[in-house]
Amino acid sequence: MANNLLQGKKGIIFGALNDMSIAWKVAERVVEEGATITLSNTPLAVRMGTTNGLAEKLNAKLIPADATSVEDLEEVFKQSMDALGGKIDFVLHSIGMSPNVRKKRTYDDLDYNLLNTTLDVSAISFHKMLQVAKKMDAINEWGSVLALTYMAAQRTMFGYNDMADAKAMLESITRSFGYIYGREHNVRINTISQSPTLTTAGSGIKGFDNLVDFADRMSPLGNATADDCADYCVVMFSDLTRKVTMQNLFHDGGFSSMGMSFRAMEQYSKCFESFKDENGNVIYG
Ligand SMILES: NC(=O)c1ccc[n+]([C@@H]2O[C@H](COP(=O)([O-])OP(=O)(O)OC[C@H]3O[C@@H](n4cnc5c(N)ncnc54)[C@H](O)[C@@H]3O)[C@@H](O)[C@H]2O)c1
Repeated sequence: MANNLLQGKKGIIFGALNDMSIAWKVAERVVEEGATITLSNTPLAVRMGTTNGLAEKLNAKLIPADATSVEDLEEVFKQSMDALGGKIDFVLHSIGMSPNVRKKRTYDDLDYNLLNTTLDVSAISFHKMLQVAKKMDAINEWGSVLALTYMAAQRTMFGYNDMADAKAMLESITRSFGYIYGREHNVRINTISQSPTLTTAGSGIKGFDNLVDFADRMSPLGNATADDCADYCVVMFSDLTRKVTMQNLFHDGGFSSMGMSFRAMEQYSKCFESFKDENGNVIYG
């Protein structure tokens, strides 16, 4: 249901790869709410992916850019302001990738060159985006910038690997830059910490299906979907949240405040069935 919450606003959405991408859902929702947008993704993703179809559907200019390249980001902001006819009101950073995860390197056997790439793509790109925008004075007063993060920045989650470090850095950049951009231009910067969501990036994580199931059983409201996330982004881009900045906002059905739920406990106890001796005692191994 559209409420015209973003009527007249101009935005840039980074990271829509296919119709499972969180950024894809956000792009559709913000346009439904009255915004005009540009889209950006890597040149390879633009060539190989389906983002062109989304751009056509939403009447949005698609600007290829590697988010680790300052020059590319300058082009995105320049071309976006040209295409949209003025400064930008909101930006979504929905970008993440770990070559260590892709190459199945474990956390105690990281390749450090690959770690640099993980951090550059998944965290430092956010700093670059903000620095470029600020130097170009590309974002309107009371503009809103969001990046997507995950709970593993705060608590160790099996299999999340060096992405946990990247997300911790992403959240720190949000606070550090949020202070400066807020103080000087009233631009607000926040991260949304989203439930595990079945997407291309998500499914790279080891044991991801089990993680999704566990989080769902633990969360009183169940996992937040990509569509739910898009709704939350609309609110955060709207004028209804003008004094929210430098926050990591959990959007996870309550998972982050839970210790153990009945539904998770019930499933957990079933796991012991196959580890009992003939007297019914649990064999811990
Ligand atoms: N899926 C989840 O479970 C989950 C949970 C919490 C947070 N997140 C975060 O949400 C964001 C979006 O991920 P998603 O799950 O929608 O997966 P996705 O694979 O659809 O999106 C990741 C995007 O990053 C882009 N990208 C990779 N390298 C890039 C580069 N150098 N420059 C520009 N773009 C680049 C990819 O092309 C892709 O569009 C990521 O930051 C991810 O960590 C995802």
